Amino acid sequence: MVKKKFYVTTPIYYPNDVPHIGHAYTTIAADVLARWHKSKGDDVFFLTGTDDHGKKIAQAAEKAGKTPKKFTDDLIPKFKNAWKKLNIEYDRFIRTTDKDHEEWVKKILKKVYDKGDIYPGKYEGFYCTGCEAYYTEKDLVDGKCPIHKTKAEKLKEETYFFKLSKYQKPLLEFYKKNPDFISPKKRKQEIINRVKEELRDLSISRANFDWGIPLPFDKKHVCYVWFDALFNYYSATRQKGKEKFWPADVHLIGKDISWFHCVYWPAFLISAGIKPPKKVFSHGWWTFDKEKISKSRGKVINVDELISIAGVDSARYFLLRAAPFGDDGDFSKEALIKRHNGELANKLGNLVSRVAGLIEKFGVEKTENKIRFEERLKKAIEKGEAELNPNEEGHLCISRSYRGSRKGKVSEVRAGTFLSEHPISWLEPISLFVKKHLDEYQFDKALNDIFKFIDHCNWYVQVRKLWEGKDKKSLFELKESILTIAELLWPFIPESAEKIKKQFSAKKIKKGEILFKKI
Ligand code: MSP
Repeated sequence: MVKKKFYVTTPIYYPNDVPHIGHAYTTIAADVLARWHKSKGDDVFFLTGTDDHGKKIAQAAEKAGKTPKKFTDDLIPKFKNAWKKLNIEYDRFIRTTDKDHEEWVKKILKKVYDKGDIYPGKYEGFYCTGCEAYYTEKDLVDGKCPIHKTKAEKLKEETYFFKLSKYQKPLLEFYKKNPDFISPKKRKQEIINRVKEELRDLSISRANFDWGIPLPFDKKHVCYVWFDALFNYYSATRQKGKEKFWPADVHLIGKDISWFHCVYWPAFLISAGIKPPKKVFSHGWWTFDKEKISKSRGKVINVDELISIAGVDSARYFLLRAAPFGDDGDFSKEALIKRHNGELANKLGNLVSRVAGLIEKFGVEKTENKIRFEERLKKAIEKGEAELNPNEEGHLCISRSYRGSRKGKVSEVRAGTFLSEHPISWLEPISLFVKKHLDEYQFDKALNDIFKFIDHCNWYVQVRKLWEGKDKKSLFELKESILTIAELLWPFIPESAEKIKKQFSAKKIKKGEILFKKI
């Protein structure tokens, strides 16, 4: 059977400083998706890297008294190290200074130019180097960039324009044909409205500095950093064996760079005759103790600091658990520690150590699942018409909710439809819920459902009084459940999940060391 392919990317980060929690967030999310698809047996390609060119980097390098190349070369190991510490397993780390990438950008520029979509002209307007973006006067607030709140630079220079205006209609058609391209849904309409309003041609070259890819048809100009950067996603798939991965399945990005990815990017690709990606998912932003992350005000948390709070797995867990992926979230050390203690140590850690201890003492007796899980319930989960919750007695229950009619009145019908005490009968439903949530990028819901099952298992130990040692079949059920939990948690907390798997697949299961020490 041909394997399904899955290609996921992160933005390529500006290497002007060490990576912080915002960069870590997208990269962890991409790693979770890559691992999840790998665990399903898919052929996965996970790309991350750095955006080395442009004015912002040139200026930072100058300030540091280094050439831009040396400056970025010195920072790249910091990114690679941070990802290693966070257990990020990417397949390629691309830099826009990589030769293969530069060659592809030149080829594409030439193609788009030959087609007549690039023309020379004069640009008059504003530029924010922090965003590496062009602004009109009306976009600015008191002459300042609305994002960085710094004074925008006034530009009046010779440039080459990309005929973005020509792609207004094709883009609107593209969004219509691909309704899931701009995700989550709540960001979609705003972008479409702006595209409908007006699309001006875009300046895609700069002539007053040289840190970039020279235009193949006019060497006095270097390519605009965003044109160069966006193509990294494509050029990485031009290597031998990687061609099949294009178009990308999903670009994960932060909401501030949605416009570049949802408008410029498909327009460039349509012009170059290349298929656009399947989806762009924009996540929310983290604040730190309710304040905007800002280096100058000391409100920043880098990867080492993040890990030092409660370890790698707790950091990964917290970021994906504490806020829905498309929404903003607030980071605080206290909140992370609370989840580490309350969820990872008390719930997961307790279950694992308690059950391992009981098995070490009493052993297990093999048993099978005797409870049938109906097809219509599977369908309900797949359609998002089912929910997982404990009932009044404390054990898990799937309630179906669907629109039905009673006495001619159409309303939401809720019915408790799956009830079983036996942990072993939950393995299939839980896995289905997690699949459903991950297919929809709802990391928080996936984790939440896994933890509802962990609660159920802890409850089961209690009601069955397993410490009395009379019920070895139940211990077998719990062993199988813990192995499934480890499998489902592996994309999120790989190190701990691997330890659990090893512990519970051993011939002789032993209590072992504590997984999450309370802080
Ligand atoms: N180089 C461009 C991306 C080019 S992709 C073809 C860039 N780099 S960046 O280093 O400035 O930012 C990268 C990412 O970090 C963005 O997706 C941005 O949303 C994210 N974050 C920066 N601060 C953030 C938070 N406080 N919270 C969450 N993500 C944030 O833009």
